[in-house]
Amino acid sequence: MDRIAIEGGSPLFGDIPISGAKNSAIKLMAASLLTSEPIRLTNMPRLADTRLLGRLLARFGTQISESDGPDGQQTVLHTPEITSSFAPYDLVRQMRASFNVLGPLLARTGHAKVSLPGGCTIGARPVDLHLKALEALGAHIDMHEGYVFAQAPRGLKGAEIEFPFVSVGATEHALMAAVLAHGTTVMKNCACEPEIADLAECLNAMGAKVSGQGTTTIVVEGVTSLHGTDWSVICDRIEAGTYAVAGATAGGEVRLTRVRPELIAILLDKLVEAGCEVERGTDTVTIRRKDAKIRPVDLTTDVYPGFATDLQAQFMALMTLADGESVIRETIFENRFMHVPELGRLGADIRVTGNEARVHGVAELRGAQVMATDLRASACLVIAGLAARGETIVNRVYHLDRGFENLEGKLSACGANIKRLKGDTPIMEEE
Ligand code: EPZ
Repeated sequence: MDRIAIEGGSPLFGDIPISGAKNSAIKLMAASLLTSEPIRLTNMPRLADTRLLGRLLARFGTQISESDGPDGQQTVLHTPEITSSFAPYDLVRQMRASFNVLGPLLARTGHAKVSLPGGCTIGARPVDLHLKALEALGAHIDMHEGYVFAQAPRGLKGAEIEFPFVSVGATEHALMAAVLAHGTTVMKNCACEPEIADLAECLNAMGAKVSGQGTTTIVVEGVTSLHGTDWSVICDRIEAGTYAVAGATAGGEVRLTRVRPELIAILLDKLVEAGCEVERGTDTVTIRRKDAKIRPVDLTTDVYPGFATDLQAQFMALMTLADGESVIRETIFENRFMHVPELGRLGADIRVTGNEARVHGVAELRGAQVMATDLRASACLVIAGLAARGETIVNRVYHLDRGFENLEGKLSACGANIKRLKGDTPIMEEE
Protein backbone atom coordinates (compact mmCIF):
# COMPACT_ATOMS: atom_id res chain seq x y z
CA MET A 1 0.00 0.00 0.00
CA ASP A 2 1.32 3.44 -0.88
CA ARG A 3 2.21 5.92 1.86
CA ILE A 4 3.10 9.59 1.82
CA ALA A 5 6.25 10.89 3.47
CA ILE A 6 6.45 14.56 4.41
CA GLU A 7 9.43 16.37 5.85
CA GLY A 8 7.65 19.26 7.55
CA GLY A 9 8.66 22.82 8.16
CA SER A 10 8.87 24.33 4.67
CA PRO A 11 6.48 27.20 3.96
CA LEU A 12 4.52 26.96 0.70
CA PHE A 13 5.08 29.46 -2.10
CA GLY A 14 3.48 29.11 -5.53
CA ASP A 15 0.38 28.50 -7.65
CA ILE A 16 -1.95 25.53 -7.22
CA PRO A 17 -4.40 24.82 -10.08
CA ILE A 18 -7.72 23.50 -8.80
CA SER A 19 -9.24 20.45 -10.51
CA GLY A 20 -12.85 19.71 -11.39
CA ALA A 21 -15.00 18.69 -8.42
CA LYS A 22 -15.08 14.99 -7.56
CA ASN A 23 -18.53 15.33 -6.02
CA SER A 24 -19.88 16.90 -9.18
CA ALA A 25 -18.03 14.69 -11.67
CA ILE A 26 -19.38 11.44 -10.26
CA LYS A 27 -23.00 12.69 -10.32
CA LEU A 28 -22.57 13.99 -13.88
CA MET A 29 -21.19 10.60 -14.91
CA ALA A 30 -24.27 8.90 -13.41
CA ALA A 31 -26.53 11.42 -15.19
CA SER A 32 -25.03 10.36 -18.53
CA LEU A 33 -27.14 7.17 -18.16
CA LEU A 34 -30.24 9.29 -18.79
CA THR A 35 -29.55 9.68 -22.53
CA SER A 36 -28.62 7.42 -25.43
CA GLU A 37 -26.40 10.21 -26.83
CA PRO A 38 -22.78 10.99 -25.82
CA ILE A 39 -22.00 13.35 -22.94
CA ARG A 40 -18.58 15.03 -23.05
CA LEU A 41 -17.37 16.13 -19.62
CA THR A 42 -14.42 18.52 -19.56
CA ASN A 43 -12.36 19.74 -16.59
CA MET A 44 -12.63 16.11 -15.44
CA PRO A 45 -10.53 15.12 -12.44
CA ARG A 46 -8.75 11.77 -12.79
CA LEU A 47 -9.41 10.08 -9.46
CA ALA A 48 -9.87 6.61 -8.02
CA ASP A 49 -13.58 7.41 -7.51
CA THR A 50 -14.19 8.47 -11.12
CA ARG A 51 -12.37 5.34 -12.33
CA LEU A 52 -14.45 3.16 -10.04
CA LEU A 53 -17.70 4.68 -11.23
CA GLY A 54 -16.51 4.24 -14.81
CA ARG A 55 -16.14 0.50 -14.12
CA LEU A 56 -19.68 0.36 -12.77
CA LEU A 57 -21.15 2.31 -15.70
CA ALA A 58 -19.36 0.00 -18.16
CA ARG A 59 -21.42 -2.86 -16.70
CA PHE A 60 -24.59 -1.03 -17.75
CA GLY A 61 -23.36 -0.63 -21.35
CA THR A 62 -21.66 2.78 -21.11
CA GLN A 63 -18.73 3.30 -23.48
CA ILE A 64 -16.17 5.55 -21.82
CA SER A 65 -13.20 7.28 -23.38
CA GLU A 66 -10.75 9.53 -21.57
CA SER A 67 -8.41 11.91 -23.37
CA ASP A 68 -6.70 15.27 -23.16
CA GLY A 69 -8.74 17.57 -25.35
CA PRO A 70 -8.44 21.28 -26.16
CA ASP A 71 -10.26 22.04 -22.89
CA GLY A 72 -7.98 19.83 -20.78
CA GLN A 73 -8.86 16.42 -19.37
CA GLN A 74 -12.10 15.11 -20.77
CA THR A 75 -14.27 12.01 -20.53
CA VAL A 76 -16.88 11.03 -23.08
CA LEU A 77 -19.64 8.74 -21.79
CA HIS A 78 -22.01 7.11 -24.24
CA THR A 79 -24.78 4.63 -23.33
CA PRO A 80 -26.68 3.89 -26.57
CA GLU A 81 -28.54 1.16 -24.74
CA ILE A 82 -28.68 0.03 -21.11
CA THR A 83 -27.58 -3.57 -21.32
CA SER A 84 -27.92 -4.31 -17.59
CA SER A 85 -29.54 -2.48 -14.65
CA PHE A 86 -27.69 -4.40 -11.97
CA ALA A 87 -25.17 -2.69 -9.65
CA PRO A 88 -23.39 -5.35 -7.56
CA TYR A 89 -22.36 -5.04 -3.91
CA ASP A 90 -18.65 -5.29 -4.66
CA LEU A 91 -18.62 -2.06 -6.63
CA VAL A 92 -21.25 -0.07 -4.68
CA ARG A 93 -19.68 -0.78 -1.27
CA GLN A 94 -16.42 0.78 -2.46
CA MET A 95 -18.06 4.12 -3.18
CA ARG A 96 -21.38 5.13 -1.63
CA ALA A 97 -22.19 7.69 -4.32
CA SER A 98 -22.48 4.89 -6.87
CA PHE A 99 -25.85 4.12 -5.24
CA ASN A 100 -27.06 7.19 -7.17
CA VAL A 101 -27.14 5.16 -10.39
CA LEU A 102 -30.44 3.70 -9.15
CA GLY A 103 -32.54 6.73 -10.15
CA PRO A 104 -31.13 7.15 -13.68
CA LEU A 105 -31.35 3.39 -14.40
CA LEU A 106 -34.93 3.33 -13.18
CA ALA A 107 -35.89 6.47 -15.12
CA ARG A 108 -34.40 5.15 -18.35
CA THR A 109 -35.37 1.46 -18.22
CA GLY A 110 -38.20 1.17 -15.65
CA HIS A 111 -36.30 -1.22 -13.40
CA ALA A 112 -33.01 -1.56 -11.49
CA LYS A 113 -31.32 -3.74 -8.92
CA VAL A 114 -28.71 -1.85 -6.92
CA SER A 115 -26.82 -2.93 -3.82
CA LEU A 116 -27.34 -0.94 -0.60
CA PRO A 117 -24.09 0.89 0.12
CA GLY A 118 -23.61 -0.11 3.79
CA GLY A 119 -22.06 2.00 6.57
CA CYS A 120 -18.84 4.00 6.43
CA THR A 121 -16.25 5.43 8.78
CA ILE A 122 -17.82 8.89 9.14
CA GLY A 123 -21.31 7.70 10.06
CA ALA A 124 -24.18 5.29 9.39
CA ARG A 125 -25.24 7.19 6.27
CA PRO A 126 -28.60 5.56 5.47
CA VAL A 127 -30.33 6.04 2.08
CA ASP A 128 -33.92 6.20 3.36
CA LEU A 129 -34.47 9.69 1.93
CA HIS A 130 -33.32 8.54 -1.51
CA LEU A 131 -35.75 5.63 -1.47
CA LYS A 132 -38.69 7.69 -0.15
CA ALA A 133 -38.15 10.22 -2.93
CA LEU A 134 -38.15 7.49 -5.59
CA GLU A 135 -41.31 5.99 -4.05
CA ALA A 136 -42.97 9.40 -4.13
CA LEU A 137 -42.17 9.45 -7.87
CA GLY A 138 -44.12 6.19 -8.22
CA ALA A 139 -41.36 3.60 -7.99
CA HIS A 140 -42.16 0.29 -6.37
CA ILE A 141 -39.26 -0.55 -4.06
CA ASP A 142 -38.46 -3.92 -2.49
CA MET A 143 -35.39 -4.82 -0.49
CA HIS A 144 -33.87 -8.20 0.03
CA GLU A 145 -30.45 -9.68 0.59
CA GLY A 146 -28.88 -6.24 0.73
CA TYR A 147 -30.26 -5.16 -2.64
CA VAL A 148 -32.83 -2.57 -3.65
CA PHE A 149 -35.18 -3.76 -6.39
CA ALA A 150 -36.92 -0.78 -7.97
CA GLN A 151 -39.60 -0.89 -10.64
CA ALA A 152 -41.64 1.67 -12.53
CA PRO A 153 -42.69 -0.19 -15.69
CA ARG A 154 -44.93 2.65 -16.89
CA GLY A 155 -42.39 5.33 -16.02
CA LEU A 156 -42.03 7.65 -13.03
CA LYS A 157 -44.62 10.33 -12.25
CA GLY A 158 -44.04 13.89 -11.10
CA ALA A 159 -44.80 14.46 -7.41
CA GLU A 160 -44.31 16.81 -4.50
CA ILE A 161 -41.36 15.73 -2.34
CA GLU A 162 -40.51 17.44 0.92
CA PHE A 163 -37.24 16.20 2.41
CA PRO A 164 -37.47 15.93 6.23
CA PHE A 165 -33.91 17.26 6.44
CA VAL A 166 -31.31 18.42 3.96
CA SER A 167 -29.41 15.73 2.04
CA VAL A 168 -27.07 16.38 -0.87
CA GLY A 169 -27.27 12.84 -2.23
CA ALA A 170 -31.06 12.51 -1.90
CA THR A 171 -31.62 15.89 -3.61
CA GLU A 172 -29.39 14.85 -6.52
CA HIS A 173 -30.94 11.41 -6.73
CA ALA A 174 -34.51 12.70 -6.82
CA LEU A 175 -33.50 15.32 -9.40
CA MET A 176 -31.97 12.73 -11.75
CA ALA A 177 -35.08 10.54 -11.47
CA ALA A 178 -37.56 13.40 -11.91
CA VAL A 179 -36.19 14.79 -15.19
CA LEU A 180 -37.71 11.91 -17.20
CA ALA A 181 -40.91 11.57 -15.07
CA HIS A 182 -44.37 12.36 -16.48
CA GLY A 183 -45.48 15.75 -15.16
CA THR A 184 -44.05 18.23 -12.70
CA THR A 185 -42.03 17.48 -9.57
CA VAL A 186 -41.66 20.04 -6.79
CA MET A 187 -38.86 19.25 -4.34
CA LYS A 188 -38.75 21.18 -1.06
CA ASN A 189 -36.03 21.50 1.60
CA CYS A 190 -33.40 20.64 -1.02
CA ALA A 191 -29.65 20.92 -0.49
CA CYS A 192 -28.13 24.03 -2.12
CA GLU A 193 -24.56 22.78 -2.69
CA PRO A 194 -22.96 24.18 -5.87
CA GLU A 195 -22.47 20.63 -7.21
CA ILE A 196 -26.28 20.26 -7.28
CA ALA A 197 -26.63 23.40 -9.40
CA ASP A 198 -23.87 22.05 -11.66
CA LEU A 199 -25.83 18.81 -12.12
CA ALA A 200 -29.14 20.65 -12.71
CA GLU A 201 -27.56 22.96 -15.28
CA CYS A 202 -25.92 20.06 -17.10
CA LEU A 203 -29.31 18.29 -17.16
CA ASN A 204 -30.85 21.46 -18.64
CA ALA A 205 -28.13 21.47 -21.30
CA MET A 206 -29.28 17.88 -22.05
CA GLY A 207 -32.85 19.15 -22.59
CA ALA A 208 -34.27 18.85 -19.07
CA LYS A 209 -36.49 21.55 -17.53
CA VAL A 210 -35.15 22.20 -14.05
CA SER A 211 -35.47 25.48 -12.15
CA GLY A 212 -34.71 26.65 -8.63
CA GLN A 213 -31.36 24.84 -8.34
CA GLY A 214 -29.17 26.50 -5.73
CA THR A 215 -32.28 27.27 -3.63
CA THR A 216 -34.24 25.02 -1.27
CA THR A 217 -37.07 24.46 -3.78
CA ILE A 218 -36.34 22.77 -7.09
CA VAL A 219 -39.03 22.37 -9.75
CA VAL A 220 -38.67 19.80 -12.53
CA GLU A 221 -40.99 19.57 -15.50
CA GLY A 222 -40.51 16.08 -16.86
CA VAL A 223 -39.51 15.59 -20.51
CA THR A 224 -39.73 12.43 -22.62
CA SER A 225 -36.04 12.20 -23.52
CA LEU A 226 -32.69 13.90 -23.07
CA HIS A 227 -29.89 14.46 -25.56
CA GLY A 228 -26.10 14.65 -25.48
CA THR A 229 -24.11 17.73 -24.47
CA ASP A 230 -20.67 19.08 -23.55
CA TRP A 231 -20.27 20.12 -19.94
CA SER A 232 -17.37 21.57 -17.96
CA VAL A 233 -17.25 20.22 -14.38
CA ILE A 234 -17.39 22.93 -11.69
CA CYS A 235 -14.14 23.55 -9.75
CA ASP A 236 -13.56 21.50 -6.62
CA ARG A 237 -14.31 23.85 -3.71
CA ILE A 238 -13.17 21.22 -1.18
CA GLU A 239 -9.83 20.74 -2.91
CA ALA A 240 -9.48 24.55 -3.09
CA GLY A 241 -10.33 24.90 0.59
CA THR A 242 -7.86 22.16 1.49
CA TYR A 243 -4.94 23.93 -0.22
CA ALA A 244 -6.02 27.26 1.25
CA VAL A 245 -5.79 25.73 4.73
CA ALA A 246 -2.50 24.01 3.83
CA GLY A 247 -1.03 27.42 2.90
CA ALA A 248 -2.35 28.94 6.13
CA THR A 249 -0.93 26.13 8.27
CA ALA A 250 2.49 25.78 6.64
CA GLY A 251 2.82 29.56 6.13
CA GLY A 252 4.05 31.31 3.00
CA GLU A 253 1.97 32.46 0.04
CA VAL A 254 -0.22 30.17 -2.04
CA ARG A 255 -2.27 31.29 -5.05
CA LEU A 256 -5.14 29.03 -6.04
CA THR A 257 -6.01 29.25 -9.73
CA ARG A 258 -9.03 28.03 -11.76
CA VAL A 259 -11.17 28.51 -8.65
CA ARG A 260 -14.43 30.31 -7.81
CA PRO A 261 -13.64 32.22 -4.59
CA GLU A 262 -17.33 32.71 -3.73
CA LEU A 263 -17.72 28.93 -3.29
CA ILE A 264 -15.33 28.96 -0.32
CA ALA A 265 -16.34 32.36 1.07
CA ILE A 266 -17.01 31.14 4.63
CA LEU A 267 -13.70 29.28 4.80
CA LEU A 268 -11.80 32.34 3.54
CA ASP A 269 -13.49 34.50 6.20
CA LYS A 270 -12.37 31.99 8.84
CA LEU A 271 -8.79 32.12 7.52
CA VAL A 272 -8.81 35.91 7.83
CA GLU A 273 -10.09 35.53 11.43
CA ALA A 274 -7.22 33.10 11.99
CA GLY A 275 -4.70 35.77 10.96
CA CYS A 276 -4.14 35.15 7.23
CA GLU A 277 -4.23 37.71 4.45
CA VAL A 278 -6.63 36.66 1.72
CA GLU A 279 -6.95 38.25 -1.73
CA ARG A 280 -9.93 37.18 -3.84
CA GLY A 281 -9.60 37.58 -7.62
CA THR A 282 -12.08 36.57 -10.34
CA ASP A 283 -10.82 33.00 -10.58
CA THR A 284 -7.90 33.10 -8.14
CA VAL A 285 -7.44 33.34 -4.39
CA THR A 286 -4.17 34.19 -2.65
CA ILE A 287 -3.61 33.08 0.95
CA ARG A 288 -0.67 34.60 2.75
CA ARG A 289 0.64 34.03 6.27
CA LYS A 290 4.15 35.18 6.96
CA ASP A 291 5.06 35.83 10.59
CA ALA A 292 1.53 36.21 11.96
CA LYS A 293 0.56 33.79 14.73
CA ILE A 294 -2.46 31.60 14.08
CA ARG A 295 -5.44 32.87 16.05
CA PRO A 296 -8.03 30.43 17.45
CA VAL A 297 -11.32 30.37 15.54
CA ASP A 298 -14.51 28.46 16.47
CA LEU A 299 -16.61 26.81 13.81
CA THR A 300 -19.73 24.72 13.33
CA THR A 301 -20.21 22.70 10.16
CA ASP A 302 -23.45 23.24 8.27
CA VAL A 303 -25.10 22.67 4.92
CA TYR A 304 -24.06 25.02 2.10
CA PRO A 305 -23.43 27.95 2.28
CA GLY A 306 -22.34 27.12 5.84
CA PHE A 307 -18.92 25.74 6.74
CA ALA A 308 -18.46 22.47 4.79
CA THR A 309 -18.11 19.27 6.82
CA ASP A 310 -15.63 18.20 4.12
CA LEU A 311 -13.26 20.96 5.34
CA GLN A 312 -13.69 20.44 9.07
CA ALA A 313 -10.75 18.03 9.51
CA GLN A 314 -8.39 20.26 7.51
CA PHE A 315 -9.33 23.35 9.53
CA MET A 316 -8.75 21.41 12.73
CA ALA A 317 -5.16 20.76 11.59
CA LEU A 318 -4.68 24.55 11.38
CA MET A 319 -6.22 25.07 14.82
CA THR A 320 -3.81 22.60 16.45
CA LEU A 321 -1.17 25.33 16.09
CA ALA A 322 -3.34 28.29 17.14
CA ASP A 323 -2.44 30.59 19.96
CA GLY A 324 -5.32 29.51 22.26
CA GLU A 325 -8.38 27.27 22.28
CA SER A 326 -10.89 26.77 19.50
CA VAL A 327 -14.15 24.81 19.49
CA ILE A 328 -15.11 22.80 16.41
CA ARG A 329 -18.64 21.34 16.16
CA GLU A 330 -19.62 18.73 13.58
CA THR A 331 -23.35 18.70 12.80
CA ILE A 332 -23.60 16.73 9.52
CA PHE A 333 -22.04 13.35 10.33
CA GLU A 334 -22.10 11.62 13.72
CA ASN A 335 -18.58 10.18 13.63
CA ARG A 336 -16.39 12.64 11.80
CA PHE A 337 -13.59 13.10 14.35
CA MET A 338 -11.57 10.01 13.42
CA HIS A 339 -8.60 12.26 12.64
CA VAL A 340 -8.39 13.48 16.25
CA PRO A 341 -6.36 10.57 17.70
CA GLU A 342 -4.08 10.71 14.64
CA LEU A 343 -3.47 14.44 15.15
CA GLY A 344 -2.72 13.50 18.77
CA ARG A 345 0.12 11.29 17.50
CA LEU A 346 1.66 14.45 16.02
CA GLY A 347 1.42 16.20 19.40
CA ALA A 348 -1.93 17.98 19.04
CA ASP A 349 -4.02 18.56 22.16
CA ILE A 350 -7.69 17.92 21.34
CA ARG A 351 -10.57 16.76 23.55
CA VAL A 352 -13.77 15.46 22.03
CA THR A 353 -17.14 15.45 23.80
CA GLY A 354 -20.03 14.30 21.63
CA ASN A 355 -19.99 16.36 18.45
CA GLU A 356 -17.64 19.00 19.86
CA ALA A 357 -13.85 19.09 19.72
CA ARG A 358 -11.90 21.49 21.92
CA VAL A 359 -8.55 22.17 20.30
CA HIS A 360 -5.84 23.63 22.54
CA GLY A 361 -3.19 25.05 20.26
CA VAL A 362 0.35 23.76 20.82
CA ALA A 363 3.65 25.46 20.03
CA GLU A 364 4.65 22.80 17.50
CA LEU A 365 3.67 19.46 16.00
CA ARG A 366 6.22 16.67 15.65
CA GLY A 367 6.35 14.20 12.77
CA ALA A 368 5.06 10.65 13.35
CA GLN A 369 3.44 7.72 11.58
CA VAL A 370 -0.29 8.31 11.16
CA MET A 371 -3.18 6.46 9.58
CA ALA A 372 -5.65 7.99 7.18
CA THR A 373 -9.24 6.97 7.98
CA ASP A 374 -11.20 8.72 5.24
CA LEU A 375 -10.57 11.10 2.38
CA ARG A 376 -10.78 14.47 4.14
CA ALA A 377 -9.15 13.14 7.33
CA SER A 378 -6.18 12.11 5.16
CA ALA A 379 -5.89 15.65 3.82
CA CYS A 380 -5.91 16.95 7.41
CA LEU A 381 -2.97 14.68 8.27
CA VAL A 382 -1.01 15.85 5.23
CA ILE A 383 -1.60 19.48 6.26
CA ALA A 384 -0.48 18.78 9.82
CA GLY A 385 2.56 16.93 8.44
CA LEU A 386 3.54 19.97 6.35
CA ALA A 387 3.80 22.06 9.50
CA ALA A 388 5.24 19.39 11.82
CA ARG A 389 8.91 19.20 12.76
CA GLY A 390 10.56 16.11 11.25
CA GLU A 391 9.08 13.34 9.15
CA THR A 392 5.42 12.35 9.00
CA ILE A 393 4.34 9.19 7.22
CA VAL A 394 0.68 9.02 6.22
CA ASN A 395 -0.46 5.43 5.78
CA ARG A 396 -3.47 4.26 3.73
CA VAL A 397 -2.99 6.85 1.04
CA TYR A 398 -5.64 5.20 -1.13
CA HIS A 399 -8.18 7.38 0.69
CA LEU A 400 -6.44 10.50 -0.66
CA ASP A 401 -6.32 9.09 -4.19
CA ARG A 402 -10.12 8.91 -4.16
CA GLY A 403 -10.49 12.66 -4.14
CA PHE A 404 -7.24 14.60 -4.65
CA GLU A 405 -5.68 14.71 -8.08
CA ASN A 406 -1.86 14.83 -8.02
CA LEU A 407 -1.71 16.03 -4.42
CA GLU A 408 2.04 15.43 -4.03
CA GLY A 409 2.78 17.15 -7.36
CA LYS A 410 0.70 20.22 -6.51
CA LEU A 411 2.27 20.61 -3.05
CA SER A 412 5.84 19.87 -4.23
CA ALA A 413 5.48 22.60 -6.85
CA CYS A 414 5.03 25.02 -3.92
CA GLY A 415 8.16 23.81 -2.15
CA ALA A 416 6.70 21.11 0.09
CA ASN A 417 9.01 18.23 0.84
CA ILE A 418 6.51 15.47 0.13
CA LYS A 419 6.83 12.18 -1.69
CA ARG A 420 4.93 8.97 -2.26
CA LEU A 421 6.43 5.74 -0.99
CA LYS A 422 5.28 3.08 -3.41
CA GLY A 423 3.84 -0.24 -2.34
CA ASP A 424 5.62 -1.99 0.48
CA THR A 425 8.85 0.04 0.37
CA PRO A 426 10.32 -0.29 3.88
CA ILE A 427 10.41 3.03 5.69
CA MET A 428 13.99 2.50 6.88
CA GLU A 429 15.23 2.35 3.29
CA GLU A 430 13.73 5.74 2.58
CA GLU A 431 15.32 7.46 5.55
C1 EPZ B 1 -22.28 14.32 0.13
O1 EPZ B 1 -22.56 13.10 0.79
C2 EPZ B 1 -20.81 14.29 -0.22
N1 EPZ B 1 -20.52 13.15 -1.04
C3 EPZ B 1 -19.99 14.23 1.07
O2 EPZ B 1 -18.62 14.29 0.72
C4 EPZ B 1 -20.35 15.43 1.95
O3 EPZ B 1 -19.67 15.31 3.17
C5 EPZ B 1 -21.85 15.45 2.20
O4 EPZ B 1 -22.58 15.44 0.94
C6 EPZ B 1 -22.31 16.67 2.98
O5 EPZ B 1 -21.91 17.84 2.31
C7 EPZ B 1 -20.75 13.20 -2.35
O6 EPZ B 1 -21.24 14.18 -2.89
C8 EPZ B 1 -20.34 12.01 -3.12
P1 EPZ B 1 -25.92 13.87 2.74
P2 EPZ B 1 -24.05 12.61 1.00
O7 EPZ B 1 -26.92 12.98 2.13
O8 EPZ B 1 -24.86 13.00 -0.18
C9 EPZ B 1 -27.94 11.69 6.51
C10 EPZ B 1 -16.40 13.50 0.60
O9 EPZ B 1 -15.47 13.39 1.41
N2 EPZ B 1 -28.81 10.96 5.54
O10 EPZ B 1 -26.10 15.35 2.57
O11 EPZ B 1 -24.01 11.19 1.37
C11 EPZ B 1 -26.48 11.29 6.39
O12 EPZ B 1 -26.22 10.09 7.10
C12 EPZ B 1 -17.80 13.12 0.98
O13 EPZ B 1 -16.24 13.89 -0.57
C13 EPZ B 1 -29.83 10.15 6.01
O14 EPZ B 1 -30.04 9.99 7.22
O15 EPZ B 1 -24.46 13.48 2.26
C14 EPZ B 1 -25.79 12.51 6.95
O16 EPZ B 1 -25.75 12.44 8.35
C15 EPZ B 1 -17.90 12.56 2.37
N3 EPZ B 1 -30.63 9.51 5.08
C16 EPZ B 1 -26.68 13.66 6.52
O17 EPZ B 1 -27.94 13.06 6.18
C17 EPZ B 1 -30.44 9.65 3.74
O18 EPZ B 1 -31.21 9.04 2.97
C18 EPZ B 1 -26.21 14.44 5.29
O19 EPZ B 1 -25.83 13.51 4.28
C19 EPZ B 1 -29.41 10.49 3.28
C20 EPZ B 1 -28.61 11.14 4.19
